[in-house]
Order: sequence, then C-alpha cells, then structure tokens
Amino acid sequence: MNAADIRTRFIEFFVARGHLAGEPASLVPAGDPSVLFTSAGMQQYKPYYLGVDTPPATRITTAQRCFRTNDIENVGRTARHLTFFEMLGNFSFGDYFKTEAVDWALELSDELGIDRGRVWVTTFGGDETVPPDDEAVRLWVERGIPEERIIRLGRKDNFWGPVGPTGPCGPCSELYFDMGPEVGCGGPDCAPGCDCDRFLEYWNLVFVQYEMNEEGALAPLPRPSIDTGMGLERIAAVTQGVVTVFETDLFAPLIARGAELAGVDPQGSAAIVRALQTMAEHARGAAFLVMDGVVPSNEGRGYVLRRIIRRAVQQGVAIGIEEPFLARLCAQVVEMMGDAYPALAASRDEIVAAVGEEESRFRRTLQQGMSILDEALRRARDS
Ligand code: GLY
Repeated sequence: MNAADIRTRFIEFFVARGHLAGEPASLVPAGDPSVLFTSAGMQQYKPYYLGVDTPPATRITTAQRCFRTNDIENVGRTARHLTFFEMLGNFSFGDYFKTEAVDWALELSDELGIDRGRVWVTTFGGDETVPPDDEAVRLWVERGIPEERIIRLGRKDNFWGPVGPTGPCGPCSELYFDMGPEVGCGGPDCAPGCDCDRFLEYWNLVFVQYEMNEEGALAPLPRPSIDTGMGLERIAAVTQGVVTVFETDLFAPLIARGAELAGVDPQGSAAIVRALQTMAEHARGAAFLVMDGVVPSNEGRGYVLRRIIRRAVQQGVAIGIEEPFLARLCAQVVEMMGDAYPALAASRDEIVAAVGEEESRFRRTLQQGMSILDEALRRARDS
C-alpha cells in the first residue's frame, strides 16, 4: 500500500466513524506565538480542548504536516527520525474517550494489514502527580494484547504535551511494531522505549485530561478528550515491509535521485547512506516550509530553513555533488506530493528559486572558506 493510499484510508476510516475531515493547518501556526512550527495534529485545536472555543464538530480527522526542530541532528542517524513528517490524527473534543480510541486503533491497524502478533503497546506507568493508567492496560488486555507485550513507561515517554509551555496534555498509550530482533540492539532488555530501531512507535493515543499551567501544575479539563497521531512515514515503513522510513515510497525516489546526481552507489558506505537520507529529508522539509511562506534568514523559522538547506548541501558536497542540486530534489518532492498538496504544486517555482538561491549563496561561502584555508596552508608550507 503506498503512502497516498494510507493517507486516504485513514481519513476515510474516521469519516465513516462520524469525524469531520478537517483542514490541515499551515506549518506556521496562526495565533500561537509560543511555538515556531506546527508540530502535532492537535495544535490548531488547542482552544477546543480547553473549551475556550467551540469546534465545528466534536470529532475531526486530519493529515497534518508537521515540523519538529528537536530531531534535526538525528536525521540520517536513525531509521525513523525526521524533521518534516505527516501525522494522521483523529480527535475527540469531549466526545468519545479511551475505549473508542483503542478499538479504532486496533481495527485500522488490522485493515492496514499490520500483524497483530507483532504489535506491542506502552501505557503510562504513573508518577507522584498522575496515577498509572490501569484502564488503558485493561482495554488492551481485553482486546487480546498479551500482558507481556504491554510496557508501562514514565512521564518522559508516556505523558504527552503540552505543545508549547502550557495547554492540553495527558497520559498516552502508544502502538509499536516489532521490526524483528535482527534489526535492534540485541540487548536482553530491548523493548518499546529502547533507543534502537527494533520497536517502531507508529501511533500515539493521547488521553487528553489535563491542562498544564506555567508552573507545570495540572488541572483537570472539563471534558476528557482524544488526540491521536500516527506517523505516515512510519506506518508506510511497516506496511511496505521495510526497515527504515527512507526505504518507503515517500523517500526512495529522492534517495535514488540523490545517488544519481552524486554518481554514487546508494549503499556504497555508511556515510553515503547518511548523506542521501539527510538530503532527501531536508529537501522535503525545505519544500514544505517554503510552501507555507518561510524564507531563509538568520533568525526564527527562516534560520531553521537555512540550517536544513545548508545541512543538506554540506552532505551533498561531501559525497561529491559539485553543482547545485537541492532545488532539483525539491522539485521532485513537488512531483511526488503535488497531488495530495495542490498548494505545493502551486508553489513549485517559488520553492525552486528560494532553495536554489540559498544553495548558491552557501556554496560561495564554502568556496571562500576553502580559498582562505588553501592560502593559509600555502603560507604555512612556505614559511
Ligand atoms: N499529538 C500526539 C503526538 O504528537 O504524538
């Protein structure tokens, strides 16, 4: 099943269960100065969870483009970390709660062909402020997930939100797919929560029950709600039977094109693999950031865009691409995703121009740096 099919199936599944197909938000959040980017599907709905605004429906579903800056350095180093990704989500604003969220997560996982025998889940194990989520454990057990595949984790892993310093949040329960022992660290304690690539978290169900204030204190929300996020790239890896998100149809053509431009074997070395993955990932991020109105600059959102463009170019230069290439990769992103995102297709020229210009500027800087270095080395040799 290709990623476009998964995206459509997800939305259709939840529309059939009474959800409104919501309009995804821009990567540049409107009216929320506390954050740089949209980093989760629920973000545009914060006022609905808090009860300060009325939603158009109590059930909504979206495919939300997201950008997370905290993972920039992990891109290319793991099989799963991305800056730009799509999050498929179903949201309940004081409507259904845990039972339906769990039921539908299992039902759709089955529909997508995910082998239930390889599904593990995590639940919130409790801390000094919030009790353990025994109800979630019970729901999973009743639906046939064996106790030994239910892992109770702490606040760092299984308490989600808020986005920004304050807002809706709650304990969460995550579905993981076991990629197999050969993929992971091989450690005796390897399980969901381990840093290695064996257990891939593909769907997070957040039980939104609290509002966090500026001091970090939790107050119960008027009506418990649901916020879920399924990473499209990750679920595509699972359903397409590949180990890394970079082997899915969302990335593979970009990686192949990068290898062609560099004239390298895409599997030639670990450094080449890392470079090609980074170039592809940042090409997607750059294309979508420009589509949503970000321009390269030295601060804020523009700085993040500049940073990913430069990171990608550095990697390309390191594997021998002499001519500017990133705008070409971005144009390919537009080709691959323009049907799902007509605004991306409409921004093609702008994306190519902005990325091309930034790459040329950066290459000039690199060139100047190299000339200065060559001159210093020559002088040192001659003295
Ligand atoms: N809002 C749920 C998640 O980002 O995982």
